[in-house]
Amino acid sequence: MSWDQVWIDINIATMSPNISEPYGAIRDAALAVKDGKIAWIGKRCDLPEFDVLATPIYKGKNGWLTPGLIDAHTHLVFAGNRANEFELRLQGASYEEIARNGGGIISTVNACREADEAELFELGRQRLNALAKEGVTTVEIKSGYGLDIETELKILRVARELGKHHHVDVKTTFLGAHAIPPEYKNDSDAYVDLVINEMLPQVIAENLADAVDVFCENIAFSLAQTERVLTAAKNAGLDIKLHAEQLSNLGGSEMAAKLGAKSVDHIEYLDEDGVKALSESGTCATLLPGAFYFLRETQLPPIELLRQYKVPMVVASDYNPGSSPLCSSLLMLNMACTLMRLTPEEALAGMTRNAAKALGIEAEVGVLETGMTADFCLWNISTPAELSYTYGVGSCIEVVKNGRLVHQ
Ligand code: NIG
Ligand code: FE
Repeated sequence: MSWDQVWIDINIATMSPNISEPYGAIRDAALAVKDGKIAWIGKRCDLPEFDVLATPIYKGKNGWLTPGLIDAHTHLVFAGNRANEFELRLQGASYEEIARNGGGIISTVNACREADEAELFELGRQRLNALAKEGVTTVEIKSGYGLDIETELKILRVARELGKHHHVDVKTTFLGAHAIPPEYKNDSDAYVDLVINEMLPQVIAENLADAVDVFCENIAFSLAQTERVLTAAKNAGLDIKLHAEQLSNLGGSEMAAKLGAKSVDHIEYLDEDGVKALSESGTCATLLPGAFYFLRETQLPPIELLRQYKVPMVVASDYNPGSSPLCSSLLMLNMACTLMRLTPEEALAGMTRNAAKALGIEAEVGVLETGMTADFCLWNISTPAELSYTYGVGSCIEVVKNGRLVHQ
């Protein structure tokens, strides 16, 4: 056998559904990499003979390998911050009131319109570094803090550039319909026209987005407006997804599922009909515990129904300055368990296998199996549940991306 690298003295949480052990675990395992892919994975005692003198061998000190983490929902390219709104909320103002009074998303829009690409890139790079340190190897980044053609394109270009210059892979999502900009305050339909007829074609022409998202909510876009944007995106061949049922139930998830959305995200107010629709269409349910925590929500997403209907649950950071200023994926694993009562195994599946599905990249990443991309992390832990049990101890000790060891 001729391999580029071999890992031994490891246990592996493959997260493969084809291995019946919890976490798809293989204890006393070995893994071999060739040309950026997993060439062999299994029990150490079954490892075929290979040229030990010509092959770099990495010893995992009996820690655990997991798939590289995938943060499938972030807004990490933005300028400014909203600490002032945090203070207002602690004095009693609600997230919705602040948004209705011209703060919220619009205040970040103002900061992004003023920032140049270099500034946004540097801010984004620092945030990507923070996620990468915790074992994230793929991230989704949304626009949505521009709300005019120039700034929406600027944010998406920066997101694409980050993907080119950082080892973390970046999937981009056009979220032009994130909020109604002040210029269209009294004519939101005209803004939706702009998103569909002018922004979307330019985003497509420059190949700036892999998917399209909308914020379907009383303080943002109606069900009918959301359907128009998602239909246009789908017709253009892009993946679709939705911020839905975060503060109320407008039926967005059900509609998006019927259009074949990859995921619906937040979904605190989703009901059983909605869950059924997700299960029928294979749409993922993305749980965002950071926003749930930071907005001090009390309405939990319908976790038990999602389990019952076997809807794949995704866990993501939703990193953004307003509702989840928490740039940590591992913290989300902990919160998914403590606040939303996922099992540690469900939480990890939400940041690996199911997150890959939500981004449409499940054929390449998200589980450790032969033929998959060699994106994985070595953790200094004695059981995979430790990933969501403890936080802040820096247990990610090595990251391999596309078969290359990344020095962090
Ligand atoms: O995912 N819900 C809408 N959008 C973001 C929040 C954006 C903001 O407040 O800046 C979210 O929570
Ligand atoms: Fe979000």
